[in-house]
Amino acid sequence: MTLFIGLMSGTSMDAVDAALVDLTGDNVNMLASAGLPIQPALRGELLDLCHGAASTLERVARLDVALGRLFATAVQTLLGRAGIDPSQVTAIGSHGQTVYHQPLGTSPTSVQLGDPNLIAELTGITTVADFRRRDIAAGGQGAPLVPAFHRAVFHTSETERVVLNIGGIANITVLPRASGQPVTGFDTGPGNALMDAWSMEHLGTPRDDDGFWAASGTIHEPLLAALLNDPYFALPPPKSTGREYFHPDWLRKVLRHGGMEALQPQDIQATLCELTAASITQAIAAFAPDARQVLVCGGGVHNPTLVQRLRSLSKDYEVVSTAAYGIDPDWVEAIAFAWLAKQTLENKPGNLPSVTGARRAVALGGVYRA
Ligand SMILES: Nc1ncnc2c1ncn2[C@@H]1O[C@H](COP(=O)(O)OP(=O)(O)O)[C@@H](O)[C@H]1O
Ligand SMILES: [Mg+2]
Repeated sequence: MTLFIGLMSGTSMDAVDAALVDLTGDNVNMLASAGLPIQPALRGELLDLCHGAASTLERVARLDVALGRLFATAVQTLLGRAGIDPSQVTAIGSHGQTVYHQPLGTSPTSVQLGDPNLIAELTGITTVADFRRRDIAAGGQGAPLVPAFHRAVFHTSETERVVLNIGGIANITVLPRASGQPVTGFDTGPGNALMDAWSMEHLGTPRDDDGFWAASGTIHEPLLAALLNDPYFALPPPKSTGREYFHPDWLRKVLRHGGMEALQPQDIQATLCELTAASITQAIAAFAPDARQVLVCGGGVHNPTLVQRLRSLSKDYEVVSTAAYGIDPDWVEAIAFAWLAKQTLENKPGNLPSVTGARRAVALGGVYRA
């Protein structure tokens, strides 16, 4: 066995996901998983930071340490559960918690917290981290980075497929049938983040369970049109975004401009759900018109209201969970970072220039030896 651990904590900031994966040869076989919830106090501080609240260097440094320790704990929990000794694990791939992502402008960068020095030291396992900035340094968006992994596990010459990850932000990977054809992929816009924020604000729960609340409302077409009018949706790829762009203030601004502040909260939730479904559907229609299968992963796959809207908005393809193709949808991203760590240690590229816009394919991340 060639064991790797992938650590992922996405834009939803719901949990730290840890996956133990056997990557012998070309195999991808998840042996164990552990999800460590991010406690509300820490989540609150991270959300503040992401949403541009005044932050001090002291706070950033403190959160970097807190997350490094939390990631190490997630690894220890995982290994305890699997009955595996750290010495049996080749490396950890740690994505880190994104608190800033700005791939455009004069100082393009992406900042992930969760000190890899601490992870390596506390677990005794070599840790690969800071994947995104190398791609940005090579002229790319630094995102999405999962498409190379998606290609490795989900490509088929039988039909064109799209892999759709619905986390806080949603992203697609387009896998053409011919392996010579370039793989493309980009962030389509909001996934669950806005729906989460709106339900936090009005229901006091961090998510709209099973999309019940959204289903109780009515889609408000003028609001939907105003939201879809944001220039991000029409931008050609490569493109990537984050929750600091599609955050509650973005919604509030549109509501204010349109004089729609008095809409019922559940109708706004229904419209936010539709925004996610419609922006994804538009992106697939524009950039993967030949796709016949859409494989869904990420937490959004558990929201039946959202999945039902995706199915009704287009009949061109079937919408199925990645579980139907052998990978649990909750662990695809974490497994991808285990895979990316292996690529890095083998000095193989992790980015796809056709996706990120980088000048070249490059091995990503820094290596923190055990
Ligand atoms: N049963 C459910 N009903 C509605 N939404 C859900 C459900 N399960 C998960 N989610 C959504 O999935 C999100 C977590 O998805 P995840 O893939 O972990 O995102 P990220 O990669 O951004 O952390 C939650 O914040 C929530 O919005
Ligand atoms: Mg998550």
